[in-house]
Amino acid sequence: KRAPPLRVVISGAPASGKGTQAARIVSGLGLVHISAGDLLRAEVAAGSELGQQAQAHMEAGGLVPDELVAALVGARLAEADCVQHGWLLDGYPRTAAQCTALKEAGIHPDLLLSIEVPDAVLVARVAGRRLDPDTGHIYHLTFKPPPPEVADRLVQRSDDNEYTIRARIQTYKAHVSAVKEALGAARLAEVDGDRPEGAVWADVSAALAAAQLGAARAADAV
Ligand code: AP5
Repeated sequence: KRAPPLRVVISGAPASGKGTQAARIVSGLGLVHISAGDLLRAEVAAGSELGQQAQAHMEAGGLVPDELVAALVGARLAEADCVQHGWLLDGYPRTAAQCTALKEAGIHPDLLLSIEVPDAVLVARVAGRRLDPDTGHIYHLTFKPPPPEVADRLVQRSDDNEYTIRARIQTYKAHVSAVKEALGAARLAEVDGDRPEGAVWADVSAALAAAQLGAARAADAV
């Protein structure tokens, strides 16, 4: 019997490397990448009512209210590509209430990947992060320098400053244990993210392979 497509949550403090590892995961496994932060930034850029409500919370380093994010992510997960190919949820759920919303929608992730990085490293990563608006690629001025031909078009996120990053780290810490507990049924893989990108990826891909094996065995047992 064919195993159902994998459903993975990637969690970690701001700038821990979720987006960087997510790019590798989706290109390797063909999962649909759903980033709660990207969905919210698209709403802000579009000037939608939801975007207007979300913006102040994001600029302050706090969380957007659960019901707004849950509706946005829930709608995306229900789309055909997610159902068919499986998904990687990046930055959701971030609170116990968001875990409950997933459960109530009958959605049970196979794996929770948690990228663990010390605070001081996070601050340095945020300061040097630059994004390519054309390709979505994530760079770092020191740790992952962009090629010269794209350097002129790179942008910095408005919430990537020292004040907001400290608030974002505190927000993350206030909720992380509750999320790990509430997603207890999923396999948990805690990965040391304070290493070069390729070394982190080696552990992430091993955790994904184990989860795939588990999903295949569960499908065979039915
Ligand atoms: P979101 O967009 O999810 O931001 P975040 O959680 O703060 O995470 P980041 O995108 O900043 O970092 P990342 O872990 O993806 O790191 P990256 O790979 O870029 O959320 C933004 C806001 O939206 C929140 O503050 C909140 O207000 C709101 N929001 C989002 N989800 C929500 C939810 N569920 N509920 C309520 N509100 C929500 O890497 C960072 C840098 O480090 C890069 O420059 C990269 O090149 C570099 N790097 C990566 N890996 C390595 C490595 N191994 N070694 C050296 N450098 C590395």
